[in-house]
Amino acid sequence: MVDKTWPRIIQGGMGVAISNWRLAHAVAAAGGLGVVSGTGIDTVLIRRLQDGDDGGPVRQALAASPWPELAHDITARYFREGGRGPSEPYVRLPAWTAGPRSRRAALAMMGGFVECWLAKRGHARPIGVNLLTKAPLPNLAVLYGAMSAGVDVVLMGAGIPRDIPKALDRMAGHHAASLRGDIVGGGHFDIVFDPAWTGVAQAAPLRRPPFFPVIGAHSLALLMERKTPGGVEGFIVETARSGGHSAPPRGARHVNRDGEPIYGPRDEVDWQVMRDLGKPFYIAGGYGTQDGLAEAVARGAQGVQVGTLFAYCEESGMDSPLREQVLAAVRRGPVTVRTDPDASPTGFPFKVVRLEGTLSEPATYAARPRRCDLGYLREAYTDSAGSLRFRCAAEPVRAYVAKGGRAEDTVRRQCLCNGLMATAGFAQRLPSGGTEPPILTSGDAILETRNLMRGGRPAYTARDVVRYLTAGRAAPVFAQASQPGAHP
Ligand SMILES: Cc1cc2nc3c(=O)[nH]c(=O)nc-3n(C[C@H](O)[C@H](O)[C@H](O)COP(=O)(O)O)c2cc1C
Repeated sequence: MVDKTWPRIIQGGMGVAISNWRLAHAVAAAGGLGVVSGTGIDTVLIRRLQDGDDGGPVRQALAASPWPELAHDITARYFREGGRGPSEPYVRLPAWTAGPRSRRAALAMMGGFVECWLAKRGHARPIGVNLLTKAPLPNLAVLYGAMSAGVDVVLMGAGIPRDIPKALDRMAGHHAASLRGDIVGGGHFDIVFDPAWTGVAQAAPLRRPPFFPVIGAHSLALLMERKTPGGVEGFIVETARSGGHSAPPRGARHVNRDGEPIYGPRDEVDWQVMRDLGKPFYIAGGYGTQDGLAEAVARGAQGVQVGTLFAYCEESGMDSPLREQVLAAVRRGPVTVRTDPDASPTGFPFKVVRLEGTLSEPATYAARPRRCDLGYLREAYTDSAGSLRFRCAAEPVRAYVAKGGRAEDTVRRQCLCNGLMATAGFAQRLPSGGTEPPILTSGDAILETRNLMRGGRPAYTARDVVRYLTAGRAAPVFAQASQPGAHP
């Protein structure tokens, strides 16, 4: 049984694999809502297996899945006892396409299952899954896998996830579901996931998890309410101080001296509108302090969603040497987080931490030959014959232009797929002998981590974060629900 109240604190979904099952599990144990990231989870799943699956958690989760043949096939294909050889690259997967019966869809479904099953193992606290609307191809498969593991909440941002409530309804009954993918220049294509393709008929219907879109403006909350009546159980209102992708400013584009987008009065949230919707909402982005939580509650929010503080705690999925490098830099002095309007191939602003050895350094960026072999952020376009194709503004410029893209859209674009995999400790080995360099994203409030390291402590845990935010009191972590009957 799941706790029948909404938590005060949500640990934000942080892709790729920063919010992994260990972090979500630790946050749940501390009394918050632990959230796993489902972004890139098919690649994460097979890379963990190729790295030897230390202690066997992934294989235990696979063995518990409703799809034993698939689990066996995945283990046989990807598991390496003791990990890969010293110069062995990770196996590459075929690129995602809109075709539903692909091996990728099966891996994405299993990835969603494994992550949520492990995060939920051994306790009855709720666990959420977070996905990016802007990377739509795997999303239905990941959600069906997560639902098969009993996920309690679905949270999705970076876009307008209008089709998701209906898809959740359908997949709860094991029916085929579809999403509309956007085609550059206009038009749509269907992304379909049919549980029947797994070849396993699960008898009992799945629980339909509550859905919380992550939005940057109250107008989007109104839109979601209007267009998906009854489909949305609450909201995460994310300010532009959040890590990862943010919504671009409304209106004409203005930048400051550092080239960062400037947000103005039109981007301010009308909290009265949020309150009037009568649904629980959380505020995210620079609210990871005791004052932040108090301020959010005073605005009528149920609580806060916090990312940055959790991204650097011991249970985070961030590669440990990188995490320690950041915390050492934070202890030494200021660390710059830049809102980069160009880094993400999606065109959304993306926050980048300036850190030695990462793609934030112009020399490291320039030394990396462009390649696109993961492809989560590719955009759909139609070629001259009218066929549906995909391209990424961070792929080799010539290839992008040959696919009808504009050369100017490739400038300063980062390969977030490979960079973020590297940040989570899954860097691909390169033919040249090196590995893909990492890229680090963070909220503006990165220096708040100092509050967790007082007294010379070099590190802190997820429990420390929850305690810090709730001023050491155990009780108020779970708030009284404002919407009876609509709980996770
Ligand atoms: C490292 C990192 C990665 C993130 N990745 C995602 C993501 O994949 N999807 C998402 O909806 N939000 C993402 N976020 C935003 C967080 O979920 C959260 O809403 C935000 O960071 C809250 O603000 P704070 O960092 O000031 O606490 C990310 C944040 C960080 C720090």
